[in-house]
Amino acid sequence: MAAPRRPDRFGPEELAALSAALDKNRLWYWPEDQSVVASAMASYAKKLGAHRAVATSSGTASLHVAVAASQMPTGSEVITTPITDIGTINAILYQNLIPVFADVDPDTAMPRPEHIEAVLTERTKGVVAVHLAGRPTEIDAIASLCAKKGIVLIEDCAQALGAIYKGKSVGRFGRFGCFSLNDQKHITSGEGGLVLTGSDDDFYLCHNYADKYYDRHGRNVRLHALAPNYRMSELDGAMAAAQLPKLDGIVQKRRGLGDRLNEELAKIAGIIPQGKPAEGECSYFFFLLRIDPKIIKCTRDEFLGQLEDEGLTLSRAYVPRPIYRSPYFLNKSFFPGAWPAEVVSGRTYDYTKISLPGAEEAVATGISIPLNEGFEHSDIEAYIAAIKLIAERNR
Ligand SMILES: Cc1ncc(COP(=O)(O)O)c(C=O)c1O
Repeated sequence: MAAPRRPDRFGPEELAALSAALDKNRLWYWPEDQSVVASAMASYAKKLGAHRAVATSSGTASLHVAVAASQMPTGSEVITTPITDIGTINAILYQNLIPVFADVDPDTAMPRPEHIEAVLTERTKGVVAVHLAGRPTEIDAIASLCAKKGIVLIEDCAQALGAIYKGKSVGRFGRFGCFSLNDQKHITSGEGGLVLTGSDDDFYLCHNYADKYYDRHGRNVRLHALAPNYRMSELDGAMAAAQLPKLDGIVQKRRGLGDRLNEELAKIAGIIPQGKPAEGECSYFFFLLRIDPKIIKCTRDEFLGQLEDEGLTLSRAYVPRPIYRSPYFLNKSFFPGAWPAEVVSGRTYDYTKISLPGAEEAVATGISIPLNEGFEHSDIEAYIAAIKLIAERNR
């Protein structure tokens, strides 16, 4: 069984918004009072209950803007997860900071506060916490830890638009909340992203970092820092605005399906679904589970093979290996020659020596289901039945 195609995502609403943007006869996002992008961002901030939102050209750009706006000294350590998109990590590297990988709870594939605490040093200046697969991480406890240590918390919500923790949208617990609007996401602007900010000062900072530090708001800080051009065009802004009203329906559909999967798979001995937090709601970017090797007597790949024989094609865990095991980190090939962050810090970081047991286990035993709003409950029941069958056969 192949994953159902996503239902048509674009229609008259997007066409009308694009056409209205074209009618303005310019696609640049300024001046603010006529900007489709600015008004889209006001809608996103309102929808997510945030103070303000800054548009960017991608999720990676949002993360880079947030890391840059945090203004951590070059060579500082930033703790993050080894199970994420490379965009999370690149944002740290771009600012010449040192990514430090925390272990993860193998069941959720995300670091718990104690995993972060275990790798904190006096050089740690920030944490980038990722809400993986649309499941909120333990973000309030992580936020308390960061506050206690006086370090910055940035949330990577690229996979978690629509996820709620303790009654609040993810992205509102840290100093910055970063989202992606790329084509794979719940809703899309084509390419794009946004940063939620909690104060005017942070809004202007991020705005400047997303637009060459050109100080569009006249705060007398033109070119005060090195900053890329991560502007969103008016066409992407029009798409972002037209897609937002569709978010609730998409999340509601996925939530019904994903919650059922979580509930039913948890009843099968040897199967550990990613689960949902007691005080949160997932938005299910995809669905993550793993086999428990103490109970299931075959490997994950054999398990997937047997599912395939039953007509169900699923994938391995989200990443092929924890990021510290990629050649990128083993060879530190991010910068040709020397890695300036290391030179400035006066320390060397040997990623070949890192092995985090929770992350290794999460990757070795993980399985992902490409959940989307085109699934019906019958698809979910078929998944549950097939996984139950193969689990029973291998206990
Ligand atoms: C967790 C996470 N962070 C960051 C990104 C980067 O987003 P983008 O592809 O829009 O740059 C992604 C993209 O899928 C992601 O899943």
